[in-house]
Amino acid sequence: MIDVQNLSKSYSGFRAVQNLNFKVDRGEIVGFLGPNGAGKSTTMKILSGYLPPTDGQVKVAGFDVVSESLEVRRRIGYMPENVPLYNDMRVNEFLRFRAKLKQVPGSRIKERLEAVKQLCALQDVDRKIIGTLSKGYRQRVALADALVHDPDLLILDEPTIGLDPHQIRAVRELIKDLGKKHTILLSTHILSEVEMTCNRVLIINRGRIEASDTPANLTKLVRGGGSLRVEVKADAKDAAAKLSAVADVEDVEVLLEKDWLQLRVFAKPGIDVRDGVYAVIKREGWDLRELARERATLEEAFVELTQD
Ligand SMILES: Nc1ncnc2c1ncn2[C@@H]1O[C@H](COP(=O)(O)OP(=O)(O)O)[C@@H](O)[C@H]1O
Ligand SMILES: [Mg+2]
Repeated sequence: MIDVQNLSKSYSGFRAVQNLNFKVDRGEIVGFLGPNGAGKSTTMKILSGYLPPTDGQVKVAGFDVVSESLEVRRRIGYMPENVPLYNDMRVNEFLRFRAKLKQVPGSRIKERLEAVKQLCALQDVDRKIIGTLSKGYRQRVALADALVHDPDLLILDEPTIGLDPHQIRAVRELIKDLGKKHTILLSTHILSEVEMTCNRVLIINRGRIEASDTPANLTKLVRGGGSLRVEVKADAKDAAAKLSAVADVEDVEVLLEKDWLQLRVFAKPGIDVRDGVYAVIKREGWDLRELARERATLEEAFVELTQD
């Protein structure tokens, strides 16, 4: 659905995006994750045909974004970062105007307006002036605008920015729902967002793609098997020494010394040391009430991949 090859973009000499390569398949919900200034918005504007690339080639549904931009725009619903709505228009009026602009045939406009108003839960406010709506509603009007010509692909630039937690949850649910029918590329600098909505994450930093994987795999990539949390009845020093001696264990940290002794066991990346740890516990005859893997979070993956 999206095919980006060697894409670069410079703003008067400053390289905002450098030699990006990635693909998005039909039906995927892909999160474009990166700190502020990473190049997310720049890339999305190019994908939507609103900004020409400096170098490289971008195809959407097989059409070139530069030489076939009309075909591309017909298939894309783009929701920009700072949504430029017409604040003194009524919701209905605005959506009708946008549908005409996007060349939805006159005979289909009514049906499309009803469909997007229902999808975005706008029926109750459709006669209101956009400028009087809350930020959450205005965001949904923008989403309805992006959807009005029934595009295959949605490009959403920070769709939940500036919303309160209730509104964020509502927009997130809506995106998941839209993902059943549409291919979606959404950008965000919030990690939990991609964990909850996306099948795949592209991490971008300083104009380069640093990683592309499922949220679960990215998490694994960082810490391999992660660490273990162990709770036993044993002497702290003795336990730390004996567990440190297990093959592939790199470090043992005592977390709490009380009735029960709580430890964290760090293994070499990618190695599961649970069997070795359990063998020692059994051999020593320690009572055991917890032996569990602690997974690295996507947050850690992100920090690790985007730090200098
Ligand atoms: N119109 C512009 N002119 C000059 N520099 C720009 C322009 N737009 C963005 N930039 C710069 O390009 C880099 C990437 O910006 P952007 O794509 O907006 O990142 P993101 O959306 O990930 O925050 C930033 O360093 C930003 O300052
Ligand atoms: Mg941006």
